[in-house]
Amino acid sequence: MSADMNLLNTTGMTREQIEELLESALRFKSGDDVSKPLAEKSVALVFFNPSLRTRASMQVGIYELGGNPVVLEPGGTSWTLEHRAGAVMDGDKTEHVAEFVRVLERYCVAIGVRTFAALKNWEEERTDPILNAFAQYASVPIINLESAMHHPCQSLADMLTIREKLGAGRKRVVLTWAWHPKPLPMAVPNSFALAAAQMGHDLVIAHPPGYDLDEELIESLGATVTNDIDTAFTGADVIYAKSWGSKQFYGNTEQDIATRAQYRSKWIVDEEKMSRSNDAIFMHCLPVRRNVIVTDSVIDSPASVVIDEAENRLHVQKAILARLGG
Ligand code: CP
Repeated sequence: MSADMNLLNTTGMTREQIEELLESALRFKSGDDVSKPLAEKSVALVFFNPSLRTRASMQVGIYELGGNPVVLEPGGTSWTLEHRAGAVMDGDKTEHVAEFVRVLERYCVAIGVRTFAALKNWEEERTDPILNAFAQYASVPIINLESAMHHPCQSLADMLTIREKLGAGRKRVVLTWAWHPKPLPMAVPNSFALAAAQMGHDLVIAHPPGYDLDEELIESLGATVTNDIDTAFTGADVIYAKSWGSKQFYGNTEQDIATRAQYRSKWIVDEEKMSRSNDAIFMHCLPVRRNVIVTDSVIDSPASVVIDEAENRLHVQKAILARLGG
């Protein structure tokens, strides 16, 4: 396997390539594909941050493909890691990514990495510095398990879920910001918006003023962007809820929290808003705060597909991993 097989985000993937991946995922899901392309192989999973779905589904997926997952947590079960080139390591970091990656690839055929945004420095974090440091030093494929800016495994599972629930045609897909008590990274909404556009969906992005996603990314998508959550729901086939922090408040959490307070009662997915949709399905990557992002009555309704969406992480990631092992 070579680093040419990196999955850092879905940028550059054609719709046909995404559809091929979804077809492969469906073959794993149906049991038509029981191949073991990772037999006798190990895959490293490096988690700088907590996870339920990504960690469990990657471990299970690697096992089901015949392989062995090696889970590492820098600063926990492995040494603290420095990623900056030229760093003078006289602080709290014990090992550099340069050695970490090149040692690990002597044992493992691919490396998955989870490394969230710290929400401290927008200009720096929008370049995905830690993920890219892994890619820079690696000669095996790097799989993004959610970085500062992208979560491609999630967005591909999301596209599979839309395909399964609503069929293959163009759908009106609404990505809506929701209130949350603290600012969160924008990897999930960035990747969801990108993948939805790549799949040819009619994409609407709704968020309060000042909560724009990365401009360069959004400009490339041809999406409708609105600050009006009420009109956004009208005619929607898919409601995808997610909260994220404002770029202008990176490094100033308290100001973001104070600013977003005004949106608490309005920016929640509830039955009244869902009733304006075209019998939309409700999606969220999870974990989700009930009665904050979405009401119990919506997430517990037949419209909610969040558990199937989480299951699809397993099938899509097996398709990604099988591609690496092929
Ligand atoms: N959606 C998602 O990535 O879940 P985890 O953070 O639990 O992995």
